Amino acid sequence: MCKLNIFANYKISHSYTLEAKKFKRYTVTSALPYANGPLHIGHLAGAYLPADIFVRHLRLQRKDVIYICGSDEHGAAITIKAKKEGITPQEIIDKYHNQIKNSFEEFGIAFDIYDRTSSKIHHELSQEFFLNLYEKGEFIEKYSDQYYDEEYDQFLADRYIIGTCPNCGNENAYGDQCEKCGTSLNATDLINPKSTLSGKPPVLRPTKHWYLPLDKYQPWLEKWLIEGKKDVWKPNVYGQCSSWLKAGLQPRSMTRDLDWGIDVPLDEAKGKKLYVWLDAPIGYISATKQWALNTGNDWQKYWKKQEHKEDDSCLIHFIGKDNIVFHCITFPSILHAHGGYILPEHVPANEFLNLEGDKLSTSRNHAVWLHEYLEEFPGKQDELRYVLTSILPETSDSEFTWKDYQARVNNELVAILGNFVNRVMILMHKYFEGKVSHHPEITDRFVHDEIGKSYDLVEESIATFKFRQGLAAVMDVARLGNRYLTEKEPWKLIKCDEAKTRKILQNCLHIIAHLGTLMQPFLPGSAQSIFQMLNLEKDVFNYDEPVVFSDGHQLNEASLLFEKVEDAAIDQQIAKLQAASATVNNPIAVAPARENINYEQFAAMDIRVGTILEAEKVAKTKKLLKLKIDTGIDQRTVVSGIAEYFEPESIIGKQVSVLVNLEPREIKGITSQGMILMAENAEGVLSFVAPEANFQNGAVVR
Ligand code: 2FM
Ligand code: ZN
Repeated sequence: MCKLNIFANYKISHSYTLEAKKFKRYTVTSALPYANGPLHIGHLAGAYLPADIFVRHLRLQRKDVIYICGSDEHGAAITIKAKKEGITPQEIIDKYHNQIKNSFEEFGIAFDIYDRTSSKIHHELSQEFFLNLYEKGEFIEKYSDQYYDEEYDQFLADRYIIGTCPNCGNENAYGDQCEKCGTSLNATDLINPKSTLSGKPPVLRPTKHWYLPLDKYQPWLEKWLIEGKKDVWKPNVYGQCSSWLKAGLQPRSMTRDLDWGIDVPLDEAKGKKLYVWLDAPIGYISATKQWALNTGNDWQKYWKKQEHKEDDSCLIHFIGKDNIVFHCITFPSILHAHGGYILPEHVPANEFLNLEGDKLSTSRNHAVWLHEYLEEFPGKQDELRYVLTSILPETSDSEFTWKDYQARVNNELVAILGNFVNRVMILMHKYFEGKVSHHPEITDRFVHDEIGKSYDLVEESIATFKFRQGLAAVMDVARLGNRYLTEKEPWKLIKCDEAKTRKILQNCLHIIAHLGTLMQPFLPGSAQSIFQMLNLEKDVFNYDEPVVFSDGHQLNEASLLFEKVEDAAIDQQIAKLQAASATVNNPIAVAPARENINYEQFAAMDIRVGTILEAEKVAKTKKLLKLKIDTGIDQRTVVSGIAEYFEPESIIGKQVSVLVNLEPREIKGITSQGMILMAENAEGVLSFVAPEANFQNGAVVR
């Protein structure tokens, strides 16, 4: 049987050298997302999609690579969210860890492990790191004044303090950062600081902490980073690091007064926790340990310096730009101080992705949530991968819009890639019943060479973290195919020369097989669909692995790789975003959940059904009505702020709910004995809360 080997003809030449190519082994990480909310497309574009493409690419080269991630489950991010949702931090991390993990899985991010920092292994390893540094005398121990909430009897994490930004005047700046102007702050920089717990101004109290002497490491960092990473790291990353170094590093506290996190393993530090930015990056290592336990592998060869430098693993951290300092300065300093660990070779941080002209924002619900996308666009993972990869914020912030999503899917995936594959498949079936016959190589030299160049370009692009360029190179293969088909016009040729028609279409099949192979890191699902259509019996083809058709090979039926996105789907998404921001802009709609009360507190309220007997405006006021209400118990006067919404005469005879045991209050000289319950919607429109149908006055509401 004759084998048609469509790869054997290529000797891929690499005309460049790349630092990372020297390595035998790769340890790839993506930032551990906080388990305090769902994932959105900004997360994907920052740290996950690029890493996933990179890792898939390495695997296709049969490299030894592990891809590590997990949930970051400590720090104020978690406790603040727990407070907001009125549940415990443990419930928060369980809820979001599972949601995040499932979304990643369904979207197809190909981690070797997705772990979590609440694991025992992680707590132990983080404490081991702390003790290692402590025993070497690395930490500076000192007291400092920190904000304390006297009502809640606790020190306040930076995020628990809000006040006015000294830089831009934003009144809601956090103790660590002003989200409006981006300035990073100390809590004591804030003007008029307030505790978010009690709403009261906090007081300063002395507390002891353990500081990492970054100033002491500065000369070492400068040598490693300034000498070693200039022209190696992306300019946005290197630039940030060098300006931190220029400004001069200060010791940074590695412990916190918090009630959630990993205990500081010292007797004298009871009640204190490790700083989340100490433990989170160690999470990469503990997750690797867990992975090694699960799979019977050795974690150390991915993290520890080996006897010969050339055997060290190449450590690469994929992150968003807000994490640069922690991955390029703090964590390397910790690894260096500990000793025995490798340091990051690359930190290809991305800038931010904006959405429809505005910053992505979890708190304002201005986001495209991954779990919602997966539900609303089932099976369209590759469409999102394609669009996000095309606009990755690799060198500067970029923007996602739904119209652009639609245009890229319709005009590129459908019209260029899908269309090429579909036309070839249809013609092969129409003229040759989908059967390939002996035709061992691409007969067109130009096409052959162009594909060879594409392999080079994709390789160079991915290896230098230029994923947009890599994807464009893949799409150029589809463009080449379309051009070739259009020029050769097999639909005309078939009338006079069947053999030549077959040659051209089989050349196209070769292009499709290469396209499928090259697409794999970027669009893995669609690459599989291509291999399925070509009936190649394998899901994945390594780059060096020939795709082989036997003589007489039968292709499967043609199926569409991508479908057009209709206007309605896009309009719906845009409307959804607008509705979300309308809701959020109106504070009534998003009034945060209040503190829990116990049943006794609820039961203490005596609420009765009553009927309004009389209503009149309170003189010299706009808002107040004086009501006489039959509460079943008695007839009493209640002053209510509903005059702007109801004419007095229109509400006489209406049934209402009345809180009857509210302490009487004097309002504009009238004693108000209770309060009527009203519902208020996002527009501020009021509605009475009353029984469905007429009910006995005095009936208890509970
Ligand atoms: O910024 C964040 O979302 C952090 N949770 C990232 C942590 S990355 C690593 F250090 F764990
Ligand atoms: Zn500011």
